[in-house]
Amino acid sequence: MSDIENDANRILLLRTELREHNHRYYVLDEPSVPDAEYDRLFRELKALEAKHPRLVTSDSPTQRIGSEVLSTFLQVKHQVPMLSLGNAFDESSMLEFDRRVRGGLDLDNDLFIENIEYSCEPKLDGLAVSLLYREGILVQGATRGDGATGEDITVNVRTVRSIPLKLQGSGWPSVLEVRGEVFMSKAGFERLNASQLEIGGKPFANPRNAAAGSLRQLDSRITASRPLEFCCYGIGQVQGQLPDTHIAILEKLQMWGLPISHELKRANGIEECLEYYQDIGARRNSLPYEIDGVVFKVNSLAYQRELGFRAREPRWAIAHKFPALEELTELLDVEFQVGRTGAVTPVARLMPVKVAGVTVANATLHNMDEVARLGLMIGDTVIIRRAGDVIPQIMQVVLERRPDNARPVHIPEQCPVCGSQVERTQLVKRSKGRETVSEGAVYRCVGRLACGAQLKQAIIHFVSRRAMDIEGLGDKSVEQLVDEGLVSSPADLYALKFDDIVDLEGFAEVSSNKLLSAIEDSKKPSLARFIYALGIPDVGEETAKVLARSLGSLERVQQALPHVLTYLPDVGLEVAHEIHSFFEDAHNQQVIKELLKHGLQIQDQGELGAEFAASTTLGGFLDKLHIPSVGPGGAQKLADRFGSLEGVFGADWLDLRQTLPEKQANSVREFFALEDNRLIAEAAEKQLRDFGMHWLSEKKVVEGLPLAGQTWVLTGSLELMSRDVAKEKLESLGAKVAGSVSAKTHCVVAGPGAGSKLAKANELGLKVLDEEAFVEFLKHHGIAVES
Ligand code: IVH
Repeated sequence: MSDIENDANRILLLRTELREHNHRYYVLDEPSVPDAEYDRLFRELKALEAKHPRLVTSDSPTQRIGSEVLSTFLQVKHQVPMLSLGNAFDESSMLEFDRRVRGGLDLDNDLFIENIEYSCEPKLDGLAVSLLYREGILVQGATRGDGATGEDITVNVRTVRSIPLKLQGSGWPSVLEVRGEVFMSKAGFERLNASQLEIGGKPFANPRNAAAGSLRQLDSRITASRPLEFCCYGIGQVQGQLPDTHIAILEKLQMWGLPISHELKRANGIEECLEYYQDIGARRNSLPYEIDGVVFKVNSLAYQRELGFRAREPRWAIAHKFPALEELTELLDVEFQVGRTGAVTPVARLMPVKVAGVTVANATLHNMDEVARLGLMIGDTVIIRRAGDVIPQIMQVVLERRPDNARPVHIPEQCPVCGSQVERTQLVKRSKGRETVSEGAVYRCVGRLACGAQLKQAIIHFVSRRAMDIEGLGDKSVEQLVDEGLVSSPADLYALKFDDIVDLEGFAEVSSNKLLSAIEDSKKPSLARFIYALGIPDVGEETAKVLARSLGSLERVQQALPHVLTYLPDVGLEVAHEIHSFFEDAHNQQVIKELLKHGLQIQDQGELGAEFAASTTLGGFLDKLHIPSVGPGGAQKLADRFGSLEGVFGADWLDLRQTLPEKQANSVREFFALEDNRLIAEAAEKQLRDFGMHWLSEKKVVEGLPLAGQTWVLTGSLELMSRDVAKEKLESLGAKVAGSVSAKTHCVVAGPGAGSKLAKANELGLKVLDEEAFVEFLKHHGIAVES
């Protein structure tokens, strides 16, 4: 065999195999090989086709994405019109439908009453498409359009993975038009909307719109990136033989590789149809896709022909609809609720309306960004949606119906529960290892424990098992204590007397005494437990432990400045600000003071933790200041050039410009021109020294560090940190980071894609760490890696 013949055979084999994998993956939901194997076969096919462009055929699995962007869709005339379905909304209309069918077939005149055989299918909520196969090859895809003429969306349907480009098996009609629904699963829809929001795009209102919007794209690459699925439910024009019942036809289509509904059933008589409707209805929320009803069709094609059509609907089929998931209603007001951490969230009060069988009068709005995104005003008519068991959501404003007296939604300046100030949270964004601080979408009542809404929850948290562990004080008892005015801060728990509690519901003499001794027993918490018990937003058990271990005393935790806190493992600037402002709050300070006054003895180690005391460099410190557009590399250059914080403050423009690119130099100048920034930096530096952190501003201090005298090499791509960051971390441990591998190299950190340097390291028998091991190594040396 010639080379060409060899390649041609291999191409055919690869295509068959890939089609088979595709079918198993997208149609049967049972992948047969790991993704990596699929990718390998796919790449091999692509390479062979690139070598022999003349062997490329339109049904090859490599040809799913059209290359050109269309300027418009061409029109397609449907040989057999694409009809719609009559609807039934209740049982009596369904019985009426069955009667009409029997009447049309003249069955009830017989002496015995024959049941009609129906097919039952879910009514998928997507959009109808027609797929034309000639000799088993997909040649055209079209939308329904007005039923007579649709749009040519061939390039787009080709990107839908569950639509075969070539039919499997044999025996298909030479011309076969398949009809079905292109739709998006609930999960695919959620994923798509999340990524739309991430890139600042507009989310889709529902899976149907998302499917329609994705399929009608002039750029098929966009369609290809969307999670579209297909399910067929019928046929159009056919030249060739097909079975004589609807279900048998669908089963044939399935054999040829076309996806049909997993829920397809045969019903003997209308009663079984009604049971099917009930069954699917009960499972509607747990199906992976949205349906708006079920479709019943007379199974026998002979009967279908006999019944024929009325206007534009078949007499042999009907859609039995479920209650709609979306309704229109009016937004009466927006109120604000206060949650456990003080988050103030808007809640929509709606004109009550029935949605899918449930009366809806409220909807969450998540946060003020959501209000802004929707462009919501009080008095607006809105589309609300209740999908599954999730809380109803406002999807859209109907702008045309906005009344003249519509009012904007304002976040209150004072907490609606306690009257404390409401503050906007800080939002820290990370990109390429840099953090920038901006205003967040969440507003929070600063009242904390002084806020009634937060108090009960705060105390429930304070006494819980993993916090102060006060046994015998359940949620109900806490509520009673707060409602009776006996407890208005965690400190009050320690002032409770026997007489205070013995009269409360559920407290007998014994349990009152038990509770008092449990309270007494809780007076010696570890520092970590105590910090956790305070309920600082974003501070869970782990962070509480880190704070306790690293800073060693409550005093230091209370005083720590945000930039100092970011030296702790896994504490970013956002959390650091939360912690700092919690302890700055006068009311919180008061509560802590009172707790201590009541005899609380916090068990701490007193010493600074080793990981915190480890070391910092001036470069590392400057990096933590988050000077806009200055990364770790730039920070290190500043440190090397100016040697101290004062040196950097005093640097003139020319000096800066010689050290950094213009944009960064400008940014440094502007940053330190602000007195606030200089003060923050000075205070943080001073505090680090006061706390006893090793401060390595001079390069010569490197001696005595764990990696002093070692040379390391970084190669390949790192995913958890940038190379600059990796370099800086190694340098903070005293290592030199070199660009090439030699016998003098101590260790090589090799990420994916590492090439000749890694090969050389192996050749020389050097120590090699992958990124995961490197991160472990850093952690072992007390250096955190923010991800
Ligand atoms: S049969 C002549 N079966 O519903 C019968 N339609 O209201 C034509 N649909 O345009 C349709 N699931 O988009 C049929 N199992 C199903 C269906 C279904 C969804 C849609 C389809 C059609 C519309 C008719």
